[in-house]
Amino acid sequence: MYFIGIDLGTSAVKLLLMDEAGNIKNTVSREYPLEFPQPGWSQQAPEDWRDAVLEAIPRLLAGFDASQVMGIGCGGQMHGLVILDSQDRAIRPAILWNDGRTEKQVRYLNEDIGRERLSRLTGNIAFAGFTAPKLLWLKENEPDNFSRIAKIMLPKDYINYVLTGVHACDYSDASGTLLLDVEHKRWSDEMLEICSVRKEQMPRLYESYQPIGNLRPDIARALGLSQQVLVCAGAGDNAAAAIGTGVIGDGGCNISIGTSGTVFISSKSFASDRNNALHSFAHADGAYHLMGCMLSAASCNKWLMEDIYATSDYAAEQAAISGRRLGENHVFFLPYLMGERSPINDTNARGCFIGITMDSSRSDLTQAVLEGVAFAIRDSVEVARSLGIEISSSKICGGGAKSPLWKRIFASVLNMKLECPASEQGPGMGGAMLAMVACGVFPDVETVCRQLVHVSSAVMPEEDLVEKYEKRYRQFRKIYPALKPLFPQLQ
Ligand code: XUL
Repeated sequence: MYFIGIDLGTSAVKLLLMDEAGNIKNTVSREYPLEFPQPGWSQQAPEDWRDAVLEAIPRLLAGFDASQVMGIGCGGQMHGLVILDSQDRAIRPAILWNDGRTEKQVRYLNEDIGRERLSRLTGNIAFAGFTAPKLLWLKENEPDNFSRIAKIMLPKDYINYVLTGVHACDYSDASGTLLLDVEHKRWSDEMLEICSVRKEQMPRLYESYQPIGNLRPDIARALGLSQQVLVCAGAGDNAAAAIGTGVIGDGGCNISIGTSGTVFISSKSFASDRNNALHSFAHADGAYHLMGCMLSAASCNKWLMEDIYATSDYAAEQAAISGRRLGENHVFFLPYLMGERSPINDTNARGCFIGITMDSSRSDLTQAVLEGVAFAIRDSVEVARSLGIEISSSKICGGGAKSPLWKRIFASVLNMKLECPASEQGPGMGGAMLAMVACGVFPDVETVCRQLVHVSSAVMPEEDLVEKYEKRYRQFRKIYPALKPLFPQLQ
């Protein structure tokens, strides 16, 4: 028996084929373009996701017995606004999770509607990347498009629709719309009204591990799969990654270093951060989680390597960083290349190097980027600690977790043991595991996590580095507040 896990990311879709014992038999990926039509805006065509997935599945299955595929599960980039017309065609490009165009609408929601009311209705306040402020932006700026909306979807739900013809959404991903009453797991009538949305425009809600339907006959034929293949509701990519790394139950933690950087803390019961700096969302196992999300994590390093240094040899750049310089770099980097979400919630914030001197070297800048991302992840960890949540160890996954040096920096900056799962294909692995539960191979998410997720190595914090990084982090913490008033003037 095989299961397909789809990780619908921001730079590419990654697919994996897994057997019921959790062995990954094959992986393929396909990139698609990301448009930045204005500074801070970020869009992608849903048709590009569709074409990439439909092209990649036959490649994934080449050389395997496709009749053995039982289920498909998708973990997808969260919050993206996908709008379909009455013929189920995308009306415009999707507005993504890292898009910052909604500053005005976020202010309206947080100040006029009010943080307290939003928090009561949804468990969260508004952030620029969330879906509700994008709907308000659309209503104001593209009223014709707004009036044509028949269905509002999230990115992976569009893929599930392409595969099954069913309009569905799971609770973890729906949490990031700011339209869901997260605690009670139902669309919030008041939030829908605030955003001028009717309930029939919203997809039906499911738990992530529930089946939503079988493949459409034409799609099954085109992919060489049986029509009986079951598609599960899937999850937001962070919840799917947490399943893929076995983070469920009370106090589990997963740090994902992908395009975004997230700190994901699982919880059996609903709880919200009293200051709403962390998101309070549903988890893919049927329970809940708190999450801090920074908008540019591994993407800061990718930007420095590819756009600035014009190299693809990340390892060579990192090899030039002398171990003795760790914790002693005089250069700091603020990783706010797309503004920032957690915990500062500032669309105007921008990236910067600070502290450069005549003897600063290329490797100091590389090191500053790795450290700046680790410091910004620590900002979210500190919020969790301030809520009394003790995190002494975490799983780590995502592209950034492939770098041994970066993991070493993270472990000492966070003063935390970091466990590396045998597979760092977090969301894809989680998607396939959810599909296994949907197909009845495992009775529940807890069992599939217990049986299939294995830790292969761990990185420990180093005492001397912890001490040095503690000092550097205290300095890092002073930079953003000092620059904050300047950023809006630079727009
Ligand atoms: C989470 C978030 C990002 C995206 C990345 O709130 O916005 O992690 O899900 O794909």
